[in-house]
Amino acid sequence: MRDVVVIGAGMTKFGELWARSIKDIFVEAAMHAIEDAGVDHLDSMYVGSMSPGLFVGQEHLGAVMADYLGVNPIPATRVESACASGGAAFRQAFLEVASGASEIVLAGGVEKMTDGADVTDALATAADQEYEVYQGITFPGLYAMIAHAHMHKYGTTREQLAAVAVKNHRNGAKNPNAQFGFEVTAEQVMKSTMVSDPLRLLDCSPVSDGAAAVIVASADVAKQLKKKPIRVIASAQASDTIALHGRKDVATLGSVVKAAQNAYKMANIKSGDVNLVEVHDCFTIAEIVVTEDLGFFEKGKGGEAVINGWTSIEGKRIPVNTSGGLKSKGHPVGATGIAQIIEVYEQLNGTAGARQVKNAHIGMAQNMGGSGASCVVHILEAK
Ligand code: COA
Repeated sequence: MRDVVVIGAGMTKFGELWARSIKDIFVEAAMHAIEDAGVDHLDSMYVGSMSPGLFVGQEHLGAVMADYLGVNPIPATRVESACASGGAAFRQAFLEVASGASEIVLAGGVEKMTDGADVTDALATAADQEYEVYQGITFPGLYAMIAHAHMHKYGTTREQLAAVAVKNHRNGAKNPNAQFGFEVTAEQVMKSTMVSDPLRLLDCSPVSDGAAAVIVASADVAKQLKKKPIRVIASAQASDTIALHGRKDVATLGSVVKAAQNAYKMANIKSGDVNLVEVHDCFTIAEIVVTEDLGFFEKGKGGEAVINGWTSIEGKRIPVNTSGGLKSKGHPVGATGIAQIIEVYEQLNGTAGARQVKNAHIGMAQNMGGSGASCVVHILEAK
């Protein structure tokens, strides 16, 4: 495989973008990424999107977006892996450039969730219909079961869950693209409306619209463009049982463990070498479980790490979700994986503004689908 770099990024603000169509927001993000990279053409493109058919009645998204972006006749493909669709689209772009098949590929992600569809039902299509959804379970319900299992096994507390939301909203308040860019207190989190015990409103990522795009290129192209090379040093993907009952341990996400192991091996680094990480905090408990399963903390210690401030931007161990995470920045599901890559890219470029992590050289993005049935992990390095 040859060296692959990210050379440009663009995203819309996340939120309720009622006045704009799915095509408009994708093209805005893609045009920003193309301008940022300074490229005059694309060899191909991928669009991560979980369920545009259910959310806005539009399928065939690869072709739709290539047409609207004005880049016909390049190959254009939609990638679907539930909430990991964006991360999976980025991985396809990485593999295409790494293989030598293309030089410049756009990896984008988009979702328009607030246009009136039944969002809870649409999201539930990412769970096991027969064993989970027909019995009435929803995504907040699945993560609530994971939270109970983690609390029971490791003593994780309600206060520790709240600390994730407090930290991520604090970071999101510094991110102009965040949907909910305001701070919250632990008390507000713990008194917010109950959604699925123990998860309350402020433990949940919101329903969002948004798009994000990056330009992935060969190192040779980056050299010609005189761009600071942000190398993709690992791309890994893994899967797990779709239904929670099939897992030996509900307090661990097997796909995250496996994808992380493969990513560290590919990059030839250890978890301690990573300077910041964007993780898939669709619910506060997810951040705690994922930071453990990525190897940043001993199993059962993820909650303690947050409440001790070890994962804040100035944190002693590793800044987690400097962008505000899904919790505060928003979670337009197909766009999320690409937006995570953008945060890591900006941090490694030194352009993250008020959220900048000092001396950031290596960053990781972890994106997952469903209750962890699919997971994609990428590691980027500033050279
Ligand atoms: N965080 C913070 N505030 C939120 C919020 C969130 N996640 N979701 C909604 N709000 C705010 C709204 O802005 C609104 O505020 P306002 O009254 O000041 O205008 C208020 O809370 C009520 O919003 P509403 O849209 O009526 O909430 P809802 O009850 O329909 O939805 C959830 C709330 C938590 C159920 C919904 O956001 C949800 O399902 N989230 C999870 C999404 C998900 O599962 N994603 C996939 C993960 S795998």
